[in-house]
Amino acid sequence: MDAQDMGRDLADVLIGEDDIRARLGEIAAQVDADYAGRDLLLVGVLKGAVMVMADFARALHGPAEMDWMAVSSYGSGTKSSGVVRILKDLDRDVTGRHVLIVEDIIDSGLTLSWLVANLRSRGAASVEVMALLRKPDAAKVTVDVKYVGFDIPNAFVVGYGLDFAERYRNLRVVGTLAEHVYSS
Ligand code: XMP
Ligand code: MG
Repeated sequence: MDAQDMGRDLADVLIGEDDIRARLGEIAAQVDADYAGRDLLLVGVLKGAVMVMADFARALHGPAEMDWMAVSSYGSGTKSSGVVRILKDLDRDVTGRHVLIVEDIIDSGLTLSWLVANLRSRGAASVEVMALLRKPDAAKVTVDVKYVGFDIPNAFVVGYGLDFAERYRNLRVVGTLAEHVYSS
């Protein structure tokens, strides 16, 4: 596959397409085994998790249901505060359902811990988390993430659903942006 044009805006590629695909395949096999005989509901967090959901869900063998939430986390600048507002709620009731939250990245973990508590309070039978990426700060809050794709350094990353000012979500790799992108 040809490199995408916007690849020249990257300082570094942290994770390539093949590595993402392979890792999501491994996690999907594990999830298939863990949820065998149980009715799985995947809950994607918009917009970042769109690419992860698309590839992860298709790597599963079982017929999982999919639903979406959009949340916004109040915070100063780029750090989230843990105060979360629901912008788009689930379409379906989660009572009694086995929920697997599908996330792009866990940074402080504050958004996610709120989300887990929220879905549990609605009476889900179980709530687990699958995140493609996890930053070191996530270790500081107690949010139990059952499935993690990759632990990455504490740098701002884009691609594969992750954006800078809503751009670069369509990049097929995960990487850090070059200085000229920020200064232009
Ligand atoms: P928490 O609550 O875990 O927030 O601090 C996680 C959310 O923060 C965003 N985030 C990023 N978005 N590149 C991005 O494009 C990054 O490196 C990054 N780190 C955190 C993202 O929305 C995630 O859901
Ligand atoms: Mg997100």
